[in-house]
Amino acid sequence: MTHQTSVKSTRHPENFKPDHAVLSVTNVSKSFGSIAALQDVDLKLSAGSVTALVGDNGAGKSTLVKIMSGVLTPDTGAVVVEGNPVDLRDPRAARQHGIHTVFQDLGLVGSLSIVENMFLCSEIRIKAMGMQTPFLDREAMRDAARTALDNLGITTVKDIDAPVESLSGGQRQSVAIARSVREHARVVILDEPTAALGVAQAAQVLLLIKRLRAAGTAVLVVSHNLREVFAVSDVVIVLRLGQVAEVFRTSETTEEEVVAAIVGARSRGNI
Ligand SMILES: Nc1ncnc2c1ncn2[C@@H]1O[C@H](COP(=O)(O)OP(=O)(O)O)[C@@H](O)[C@H]1O
Ligand SMILES: [Mg+2]
Repeated sequence: MTHQTSVKSTRHPENFKPDHAVLSVTNVSKSFGSIAALQDVDLKLSAGSVTALVGDNGAGKSTLVKIMSGVLTPDTGAVVVEGNPVDLRDPRAARQHGIHTVFQDLGLVGSLSIVENMFLCSEIRIKAMGMQTPFLDREAMRDAARTALDNLGITTVKDIDAPVESLSGGQRQSVAIARSVREHARVVILDEPTAALGVAQAAQVLLLIKRLRAAGTAVLVVSHNLREVFAVSDVVIVLRLGQVAEVFRTSETTEEEVVAAIVGARSRGNI
């Protein structure tokens, strides 16, 4: 590779003139005892944009995701949603702010049906004379579940009354993503969504990510698979040793540059 004069990366995501920052993280630090898992991390997620979060094991990716999901509280810094600092004291608070995270375990209950999983802890109940009754409105939930699946173009899930444990890995991932659509998430965070999937199913999940983007959702994907990162993301954020090492526009960088940033190689093009 020859010497490059053009600026291909920047530490400052704001230099990208994002369309609309739905969620930002500013100056976030988090330590576990003497281990500084995150130090002064800034990150911005824009509507209709896919951001990939990459980095070696121990770089701080999961800690950052947990902070944005309300699972962990940062020691310093803030999470800002639509311009307002928010207190994400628990995962429920994050969801109320429109931040939906699909963790690796997907948070699905195998013995329950697809519809039941999509309405876990947020069931629709029948109303009578303006008052909520204890009775579940199964028809309304089935309609809404079907609509969410249809909106994402998920055709592989045929029977929404089937138990989730009867589904393939890719179908389960689809149901978990459709649940975020059903909940009108503004931000969807996916932790290694394709790690356990075969090639065809992984391709299906990448398609769903693109559909979320087309619908205006801000998407953050944690991934080890750089080929997929390049296939689906607009921006790549590299974490190294708890800090943002580089922020790349995906269209303006290469796998070599991203790998160099992940491992901390100083001279690019020579590795
Ligand atoms: N609950 C915890 N207790 C102690 N150390 C932790 C905890 N969670 C993460 N760490 C440490 O924080 C650092 C970042 O971890 P993590 O966010 O899981 O990185 P990644 O997801 O990029 O592999 C690592 O050094 C890890 O050992
Ligand atoms: Mg992790």
